[in-house]
Amino acid sequence: MTDTTSNKMWGGRFAAGPDAIMEAINASISFDQRMAAQDIAGSRAHAAMLAAQDIISDSDADAIRKGLLTVLSEIEGGTFAYSTALEDIHMNVEARLKEVIGEPAGRLHTGRSRNDQVATDFKLWVRDQFDAAESGLLALIQALLGQAEAGADWVMPGFTHLQTAQPVTWGHHMMAYVEMFGRDLGRMRDARARMNESPLGAAALAGTSFPIDRDMTAQALGFDRPSANSLDAVSDRDFALEFLGAASICAMHLSRFAEELVIWSSAQFRFVTLSDRFSTGSSIMPQKKNPDAAELIRAKIGRIMGANVALMMVMKGLPLAYSKDMQEDKEQVFDAADNLMLALAAMEGMVKDMSANRDSLAAAAGSGFSTATDLADWLVRVLGLPFRDAHHITGSLVALAEKNGCDLPDLTLDQMKTAHDGITADVFDVLGVENSVNSRMSYGGTAPAQVRAQVARWKGILG
Ligand code: ARG
Repeated sequence: MTDTTSNKMWGGRFAAGPDAIMEAINASISFDQRMAAQDIAGSRAHAAMLAAQDIISDSDADAIRKGLLTVLSEIEGGTFAYSTALEDIHMNVEARLKEVIGEPAGRLHTGRSRNDQVATDFKLWVRDQFDAAESGLLALIQALLGQAEAGADWVMPGFTHLQTAQPVTWGHHMMAYVEMFGRDLGRMRDARARMNESPLGAAALAGTSFPIDRDMTAQALGFDRPSANSLDAVSDRDFALEFLGAASICAMHLSRFAEELVIWSSAQFRFVTLSDRFSTGSSIMPQKKNPDAAELIRAKIGRIMGANVALMMVMKGLPLAYSKDMQEDKEQVFDAADNLMLALAAMEGMVKDMSANRDSLAAAAGSGFSTATDLADWLVRVLGLPFRDAHHITGSLVALAEKNGCDLPDLTLDQMKTAHDGITADVFDVLGVENSVNSRMSYGGTAPAQVRAQVARWKGILG
């Protein structure tokens, strides 16, 4: 749709309306309508401030503030007719306000610009996403704590290079993810605290000659203070980049966990059983139960990190202050936020529902020479050997066991003695996986007592 007349918001100097393609590339209303509530909250705060500062009359401010609520209810009720010719949410709302209340609507834009308006709206929107991410992360952490507590002493293999390394506990493995998501939580909170400054009143770029009160609007919108430099205020998108950065790291963590769940739920591993609620079947292979949610979570990093890169490239090299390039900030952030929240919720659901197969975990924990390090440590501790020698002797016993097709605890004492004649029957105590994990009592280690202490610490933190 092309208007033949010039734009009614800014078309004073224009004789003709935009080409249809100009309108198509210029308009953002198809996506920035998601910021309608923020736009109206910002405008209501601005109007109240203009009246308090005697810049507009109280009656005009009242009409504006009431009219904006009418517009909001139309938007929420789905009856609002968006216009591409009016470009974006800011001008769509203002134009409709004019239709609803008439002349006072024209006074709303006093002492402000769409540049500080869009920065304010977007900040309010992104701030809500920091809060949503915080809630999603807290719920996921709670679910992980539940798993960790239930299985604090369930033994399983710990891996390096995805090769059996040393026995660990299920609770310990779950708590590793609590640490990761805990850092994600911290990143979300740090960034939210840093971004909470109000751009409103920076106007187009230089501030305004009207005697506005920026503290008043900042406070009304829940900001800690007004931003201190008007050029920066209208051209800063760090808050969106920090959100995407924190979201990308979080999505990376989610993808690692999702990958483990995919592996663990396979017939070859059988470490976990995912619930029917978070699995799907195959239309051709009746036996299949597929971990689709985990696979999709594993993939979400692609679009979330993609958004991070895309916005960084948009912002790179932009001269101060506002440039229209910055309109390209929103879709990326909207998509990344939607998908992060969905991935967090799906992961929380999967973790709550899944059951660890204790027997499979234990069987796997005892295979693959997982207590070889315990044997080497015993040789050091009891026989006083240098660790390098102990390592070599243990290696020869592993080779012997491998040749005999058995595991370390299955070797006889005589066979053990062929590697070092000082070895006694006591060695078999440390070759059991339970003893192995119980012995790893160093702070942050895998011993059940350490795991329980970390669960208690996190419960204390979360209150
Ligand atoms: N729709 C625009 C955006 O998202 C609003 C700001 C427009 N400002 C301007 N000077 N054209 O960035």
